[in-house]
Amino acid sequence: MGIIEVGISLKFAPKTNPEQTVGQIVDYYNRMEPSFLNVWQGACHFGYTEKGERFELKSALKTMEMRLGQELNLHLNSTVLDAGCGYARVATTMAQQFGLNVLALDLIQKRLDEAKRYAREQGVEEKVSLIRGNYCNMKKQIADFSIDGVYTMETLVHADPLETALSEFRRVLKPGGKLVLFEYSVPSYEKLDPIRRTITDAMVRKTGMPSIKFFAHGAFPKILEAAGFENIAMKDISHNVWPTWRWAFWRNLRENNLMLLPKILSGKIMKNTNLMAALMIYPYRHQLKYNIITATKPKD
Ligand SMILES: C[S@@+](CC[C@H](N)C(=O)[O-])C[C@H]1O[C@@H](n2cnc3c(N)ncnc32)[C@H](O)[C@@H]1O
Repeated sequence: MGIIEVGISLKFAPKTNPEQTVGQIVDYYNRMEPSFLNVWQGACHFGYTEKGERFELKSALKTMEMRLGQELNLHLNSTVLDAGCGYARVATTMAQQFGLNVLALDLIQKRLDEAKRYAREQGVEEKVSLIRGNYCNMKKQIADFSIDGVYTMETLVHADPLETALSEFRRVLKPGGKLVLFEYSVPSYEKLDPIRRTITDAMVRKTGMPSIKFFAHGAFPKILEAAGFENIAMKDISHNVWPTWRWAFWRNLRENNLMLLPKILSGKIMKNTNLMAALMIYPYRHQLKYNIITATKPKD
């Protein structure tokens, strides 16, 4: 069974154009740079809060990164690939807290420049190698069977095509190597009503996230199995992410209070994708899931 048949039927499979997707991704992250740097402190992922713990952004972001390192569970000085590293907040934690050597790869040079500054400031410049590239085609940058672990933190939704990204992850991993994905899943695209489908389509275009349509709840094991991985396991940590979604919702509501209605009525809200997402995700939280997915490359 092809991956494309798993999360979404061929009838609804989006017709994508990888070059155009890259353009949409670059445009989205350039537009949202102030939000990611000033509000999200350079992390481009959600936070993890333990049940009963008081939410604090900085510590929630760090806890999420620590969760990733624990899931990788690799020896000191193992080599990992951070596919879609952004400003390397995660990569830096992997190097600092877990002693891993990180190949941190991203499409956007500006992000890598900030990543370099940050890794140096944190004293792990030597352990974080920054690489400009596309994780759907890393043949020039990363050799076959050279990596102990590959991870993604909230970036696989951008893969175009998804099959190619996963086969690249499999190619670079050593036999028995570990794959860890921290990714959300969504209700099946086919079951969405026309309004939600229109909103989803607009968000996909604005952010370059064509693969989100495949990430229906429960689809990841089949996706990874079809891509040749084994020992696939999944944990739902949505409840640990809700405090971050709630914080983002109220923060954006407060900051935009009187301006929100004019922004909605004039359509300007569509330009601020992070604002739109923050306002939509928390009220919609019961429909979304945040997952940790782990798998290994077969030994033979
Ligand atoms: C939501 S951010 C996550 C960044 C980082 N993982 C973190 O958690 O802070 C997604 C990142 O993936 C990068 N990206 C998206 N598609 C990519 C691709 N095909 N190859 C390399 N990087 C990609 C984007 O440029 C962006 O920096």
